[in-house]
Amino acid sequence: MKITLSIIKADIGSIGGHIKPSQKLLETIRNYIKEKEGKLIIDSYIGYTGDDISILTTHRKGVLNKMIHKLCFDAFMAGTKVAKNQGLYGAGQDLLTTAFSGNVKGMGPQVAEMEIEEREAEPFLMFMADKTDPGAFNLPLYLSFADPMHNAGLILAPRIKMGFRFNIMDVSYTKADKVIELKSPEESYDIAALLRDPERFVVESIWSRASGEQVVAVSTTRLHNIAGKYVGKDDPVMLVRTQKDFPSTGEILSPYTLTPMVPGFMRGSHNSPLMPVKMNTSISFFDGPAIVSGLAFCVKDGKITEPADVFDQPYWDFVRQQAAQEAQEIRRQGFFGSAMLPYSELEYGGIVETIKKLEKRFIIKK
Ligand code: F6R
Ligand code: MG
Ligand code: MG
Repeated sequence: MKITLSIIKADIGSIGGHIKPSQKLLETIRNYIKEKEGKLIIDSYIGYTGDDISILTTHRKGVLNKMIHKLCFDAFMAGTKVAKNQGLYGAGQDLLTTAFSGNVKGMGPQVAEMEIEEREAEPFLMFMADKTDPGAFNLPLYLSFADPMHNAGLILAPRIKMGFRFNIMDVSYTKADKVIELKSPEESYDIAALLRDPERFVVESIWSRASGEQVVAVSTTRLHNIAGKYVGKDDPVMLVRTQKDFPSTGEILSPYTLTPMVPGFMRGSHNSPLMPVKMNTSISFFDGPAIVSGLAFCVKDGKITEPADVFDQPYWDFVRQQAAQEAQEIRRQGFFGSAMLPYSELEYGGIVETIKKLEKRFIIKK
């Protein structure tokens, strides 16, 4: 029987700036969702990364289901009330519109969902990133699914060697979802050509060519495309199934050792190394750095195990040190050059206004 894994995530307020949600806020969301276990949903897990709360549910309703989305949306609305009462900063910030119609896509929260036929054992990973946007997963996904330097299975396992289909979205197109399907390995240079640009092209899903099954679902919403102005970074979530016909958990984790520079950090307008962190890690230095947490689960008949925290292992302490060093390095040049994002990607209007004003004072010399 098919089950659906759904992550719906939002920033609805945090303590002391854009740092982390309060215990009371988390409890409110947890209790709200727990109520529906055994009824609308089978099971759930609620966690946070930085200032974002993620609701993972299992159910039999399929993706983009109105009742499931409404449940999570209502939980975030109930949470927003608590956040307002506690005087949390940015209460309700990701609920850009409060009139619910159908599903939460385009309303502010991030969504990553997959309907799957459960395998005998069904291991999967839930990734949550903060202070960055969905393109942050581009490079790790490319390396895990198309590069034998990270995925030994591409050489050693014949069914993995058959490759994967990448669905990639052009997120600059806002009227509808604009997606291209490309196949690895034969189109892997084309895939790289798109994934090079994480602000515009974002992996939406990946499918196994051996079994035809979906392996990856990434949230692709860009908040500033919806709101037309800064409302916070998008802070993506992702589901990845692992093992057998899919990359192993370790092959999925391998690229995070590289701590690539991603857009985000302070005011969503800088470049930051992507630091792999333990579950429930908060934000700090320069409203960053950009962080990603990873929780591994197994699911059986929709019932999920407790999470195994994949970045809570001594190896990653070393990687975190490296990421901290890189963060320090790029912060040495402050606002200059590649430390800040290009003009079109700045999340605050300040520079645009300044340049407009100064434009009038330029003179063209004869
Ligand atoms: C970045 C982020 C923070 C804020 C910054 C200013 O995603 O959330 O860096 O941009 O703390 O926040 P406001 O404008 O809310 O004072
Ligand atoms: Mg956030
Ligand atoms: Mg935020």
